[in-house]
Amino acid sequence: MIRLDGVNKYFDDFHALKNINLDIPRGQVVVVIGPSGSGKSTLCRAINRLETIEQGTIYIDGERLPEEGKDLARLRSEVGMVFQSFNLFPHMTIRDNVTLGSIKVRGMPKNTAQALALDLLDRVGIGNQAKKYPAQLSGGQQQRVAIARALAMQPKVMLFDEPTSALDPEMVNEVLDVMTDLAHEGMTMVCVTHEMGFARKAAHRVLFMADGEIIEDSDPQSFFDNPQHERSQDFLSKILSN
Ligand SMILES: Nc1ncnc2c1ncn2[C@@H]1O[C@H](COP(=O)(O)OP(=O)(O)O)[C@@H](O)[C@H]1O
Ligand SMILES: [Mg+2]
Repeated sequence: MIRLDGVNKYFDDFHALKNINLDIPRGQVVVVIGPSGSGKSTLCRAINRLETIEQGTIYIDGERLPEEGKDLARLRSEVGMVFQSFNLFPHMTIRDNVTLGSIKVRGMPKNTAQALALDLLDRVGIGNQAKKYPAQLSGGQQQRVAIARALAMQPKVMLFDEPTSALDPEMVNEVLDVMTDLAHEGMTMVCVTHEMGFARKAAHRVLFMADGEIIEDSDPQSFFDNPQHERSQDFLSKILSN
């Protein structure tokens, strides 16, 4: 569903992604972990073409990610992305935040888009908040709106970049639960997160990144119980000790 072939990304002369080769089959849930600055966000942003790459090729569902234009907009709409910050439009209701993309980008009729939005808001547990404005919701609820908004585009793939790291601790689980449901429904997902409970429960695969490279690629159980590289051992001992 997602394939990266020899992907290299530079910021000027800084080599941010180093020869990334990755094949993610349909329905696979991949957790990406690694120290700050290792390239996790850049990897997600490259998959969604928010960052250009200097070398290599990225395919989504067998289609090469186009450079620009209409094809890019279409393919990008097939890749949902959820960031640390929710970026909802403050002057629009929750429902309208969710329908905006499906009406404008997908060309969905308004009625259909609104019915879909209410359905998705129900799925993420906030169907009763549709008429409110973002500022009236908690952080955890806003992040669930952001997930519903991404799903409204009916994406083939969902990317999550530290979706819970800006949340108060008591709101983390309500977002992880929605992500876990999505994983169990068979969505293809790439999740940058340091929530190890989620990784153990929902992930099929863990990638450990350091200095722009994927240095470990394994199933969660082997990764947590028997990390192969000194850097992943070191990283795990740091995050698991607090
Ligand atoms: N727009 C940018 N311009 C220059 N350097 C950048 C830019 N975005 C990221 N970087 C650098 O690329 C490296 C990887 O960043 P990032 O992918 O955000 O790491 P992570 O998400 O793993 O913390 C970091 O060293 C960061 O400083
Ligand atoms: Mg990041």
